[in-house]
Amino acid sequence: APRVLSGIQPTADSFHLGNYLGALRQWVALQDTHDAFYCVVDLHAITVEHDPAALRRRTRVSAAQLLAMGVDPERSTLFVQSHVPEHAELAWVLSCLTGFGEASRMTQFKDKAAKQGSSAASVGLFTYPILQAADILLYSPEPGEDERLFRVPVGEDQRQHVELTRDLAGRFNHRFGPTFVAPEAYIPQGAAKITDLQEPGSKMSKSASSPQGIVDVLEEPGPMRKKIMRAVTDTGSEVRFDEENKAGVSNLLRIHAALSGATVPELEARYEGSGYGQFKKDLAELLAETFTPIRERTLKLLDDEDALDRILAHGATRAGEVARRTMDTVRDRVGFVGRG
Ligand code: TYM
Repeated sequence: APRVLSGIQPTADSFHLGNYLGALRQWVALQDTHDAFYCVVDLHAITVEHDPAALRRRTRVSAAQLLAMGVDPERSTLFVQSHVPEHAELAWVLSCLTGFGEASRMTQFKDKAAKQGSSAASVGLFTYPILQAADILLYSPEPGEDERLFRVPVGEDQRQHVELTRDLAGRFNHRFGPTFVAPEAYIPQGAAKITDLQEPGSKMSKSASSPQGIVDVLEEPGPMRKKIMRAVTDTGSEVRFDEENKAGVSNLLRIHAALSGATVPELEARYEGSGYGQFKKDLAELLAETFTPIRERTLKLLDDEDALDRILAHGATRAGEVARRTMDTVRDRVGFVGRG
């Protein structure tokens, strides 16, 4: 089966609607047809200042949410990045193939560094995309005649990092012989960039959005409903998709369409003349229907931490086997003497 790999940072007590629609829903769907590797990227989570107890808690909460959403540990390999040390090892090798200028062009680094004041940003934040490339390429299928698909389901904001990964795969292959398949970003149409409910011009983001701007997966239906009802729209009353002039309504339409399966024109027709109130109420209902079972299953999974840790240990064993094989090849190709 073709391979798929993706990762998510355990940097909040809940994933949000952007994570779910931009990426996680695709994780669940792709496991039906792909040999899937899904990773909670705790090494990435320490590139900004963090609290160790919170990281430990959030890593488990993250894994529990993924299972609750339908990632099936029997079919897919679900693991924690730091359990597989080859991620850091391959990142080193790839960092030696990455130009300083090339890394400096990563827009997510520039944004995050600017927010912290660039001298306060860590070197880890700078090399973050190279670690991400390592996450992906460790699970590359072997290059062969029938170049199989190798997909990375992510939101729009990760496109540049997947591009860098493709470049690094090509560069490694060129210098040291065919080793990696270049991965493809698998980005959903429509839901690739969910925006902030209060600032519809900006991405919904764990680090940048206010609580009122974010819908959390683990949120209770009551507060979730309030946030939707208070989502910024415009002074008009027409439920119409118009990114330029009606960014807020357009975002809500995108969310509704992604959750309900209706098309945007169908929704525009359905809410013609009814104003924003009914539309928002229905959307809140749709969100509650989607997230309530996920919240309940997550809480149940967190009740038995030992069982959760066993699932992750099993995933780490499977991921480790693949990662070790890849790293053995990489070490040999770059000219490291084998340990004998
Ligand atoms: P992270 O943890 O920030 O986000 C996880 C996934 O959610 C997507 N996403 C969104 N999609 C649509 N609209 C939004 N507002 C929105 N916000 C977030 C992200 O695109 C992402 O797919 N660098 C990655 C984690 C990572 C990774 C990897 C991903 C590490 N190694 C290897 C793929 C493969 C990140 O920070 O995602």
